[in-house]
Amino acid sequence: MLLFATSDKGGTGRSVSSCNLAYRRSLQGANVCYVDFDFGSPTAGAIFDIEELRHGTPGQGIHDYLQGADSEAERHSVWAESDRPELQARPDGAGDLVLCPGDSDGSEFPGDEYTVDRCVNLLLELSREFDLVIVDLSAGRSHATEMVMSATARPELANLPWRWIVYHRWTQQHVLAAHSLVYGERGLVETSKIFDQNFQRKFLASIRYVRTAVVNPDGDDLEGLKPTQVSWLRKIDADLHQMAAKRKLGRMNLLGSVPLDPVLQWREQIITDDDTGNLDIANLATAKAFVDLAVKSSEELFAPGLEAIARGIE
Ligand SMILES: Nc1ncnc2c1ncn2[C@@H]1O[C@H](COP(=O)(O)OP(=O)(O)OP(=O)(O)O)[C@@H](O)[C@H]1O
Ligand SMILES: [Mg+2]
Repeated sequence: MLLFATSDKGGTGRSVSSCNLAYRRSLQGANVCYVDFDFGSPTAGAIFDIEELRHGTPGQGIHDYLQGADSEAERHSVWAESDRPELQARPDGAGDLVLCPGDSDGSEFPGDEYTVDRCVNLLLELSREFDLVIVDLSAGRSHATEMVMSATARPELANLPWRWIVYHRWTQQHVLAAHSLVYGERGLVETSKIFDQNFQRKFLASIRYVRTAVVNPDGDDLEGLKPTQVSWLRKIDADLHQMAAKRKLGRMNLLGSVPLDPVLQWREQIITDDDTGNLDIANLATAKAFVDLAVKSSEELFAPGLEAIARGIE
């Protein structure tokens, strides 16, 4: 399974949520590969706490691989190489958790036939080897996005299952921006139209949304707020639900919501069971949300909204 992670804006929580999804899926026994395709800011090394990959790799990262002639992109086992003690040993029953880092000196570059060929080869090879391959793309309407879309439209990848996750924060501007990334001018749907109708249909059906850093207006952690603030928050939350549903970002196409978490507000990292248990610094609901995303991202049922979207319901 290939999972492409995108967002309209930067700083939405795309990388942190995707790394946590990868971690949880691997704990569930799947072999997972995380490919840092964010040409401008490859941050996965920092999130997995691999010091030497904090800003991407100085060696053979994804960008060098795509543009160059070398046969392999660098791979790093998170279990073996993380500097974080809780991540250092693969827990019993866990699958592989491998990072293909971006290059530390990488930047956006337009794809061409050659780079798309390389991308096809990479995705084919990784899909053969791993149960789940997560591709973290650059934010917005990026060259990286066009490149992977062109790759998935190739006949070599036609039979591979792939899906798209659009991350967005739970605010008015982010909901509008996520909608525009998918349905707006030069958006994902418009880009998919350069390929055949089958591809377009498959593409549209494969899109799901994840809301990040969401404040639950009924949550216990609002105890510090005044009653007027809580009722205002509930009203805004209800308005957002309406706005999202009108723009096809409603429940039908929602993969999950990640709560606002104090740990992630302060540090980009994996939330382990130690963080929610022994250390008691992260919220259990956050870890649960990542577990849930990990399960849902690989479920057959991922696509029940397909016909509904096509018919314009929601
Ligand atoms: N659920 C959350 N609760 C609180 N903070 C969060 C949450 N998810 C992410 N963050 C924080 O938001 C910031 C941006 O997250 P992240 O780097 O994952 O975003 P991104 O969309 O990948 O950004 P970029 O476009 O720069 O790659 C980080 O500081 C991260 O820790
Ligand atoms: Mg990122």
